[in-house]
Amino acid sequence: MNLVLHVWRQAGPNVPGRFERYEARDISAHMSFLEMLDVVNQGLLEAGKEPIAFEHDCREGICGSCGIVINGNPHGPLPRTTVCQLHMRHFKNGDELWLEPWRARAFPVIKDLVVDRNAFDRIIQAGGYISVRTGSAPDANAIPVRKDHADRAMDAAACIGCGACVAACPNGSAMLFTAAKVAHLSLLPQGQPERLERVLGMVDQMDQDGFGNCTNHGACEAACPKGISIDFIAQLNCDWVRAALSYAPREAAEGAI
Ligand code: SF4
Ligand code: FES
Repeated sequence: MNLVLHVWRQAGPNVPGRFERYEARDISAHMSFLEMLDVVNQGLLEAGKEPIAFEHDCREGICGSCGIVINGNPHGPLPRTTVCQLHMRHFKNGDELWLEPWRARAFPVIKDLVVDRNAFDRIIQAGGYISVRTGSAPDANAIPVRKDHADRAMDAAACIGCGACVAACPNGSAMLFTAAKVAHLSLLPQGQPERLERVLGMVDQMDQDGFGNCTNHGACEAACPKGISIDFIAQLNCDWVRAALSYAPREAAEGAI
């Protein structure tokens, strides 16, 4: 099949970008979307032109590196599918596609379709861990976990940190990502000791990095390739209120507020 691509080209973070038109010719329906871009880039290299910069690693839908907005949809038109797992059979010969990077204040463009997602790492650093002595591997099932809690923690842990939720949200909010990371620890016994500090720290970092707040559009859940539910945002809000109420009297007594 042959396609027309309008690709966002931007040489660096502080220079203006623009769409450029390319033709993708003789594309096999069995190729992935990124393989199609590889073919276009091969043509650009052979013509002595700069290839299109885009991010990828596993190409198996598990690492969270890839991410392109295709015709306004983060990761493209197929629900619950990362762009690396999107195949060309879902497009038609002659289709015209507009490719853009994630658009969010907290994700500045580095080059073309690549954005800086370090803000997610800073949110994780602000609390997305547990402080335990690691030592040798503990016996399996040494700490009993309720089956429904284990299942929900596993659902939250499916988040691959791709950032499509932020790109889809009209507020550029990272609430779905943060809620998933908070929930997968706070649902397990190992995550309890730091549960309250964790939620305060991660939400505070999210605000500092310039992400917007959640106003219940639900666009994040619709765009999420891992089907993370916005119910986790409700759980995040509950934990945050509990944490704020528990810390406020202490801080007041210490003269901090
Ligand atoms: S919540 Fe979904 S869309 Fe957001 S970072 Fe995690 S996997 Fe990606
Ligand atoms: S390249 Fe790893 S999820 Fe797409």
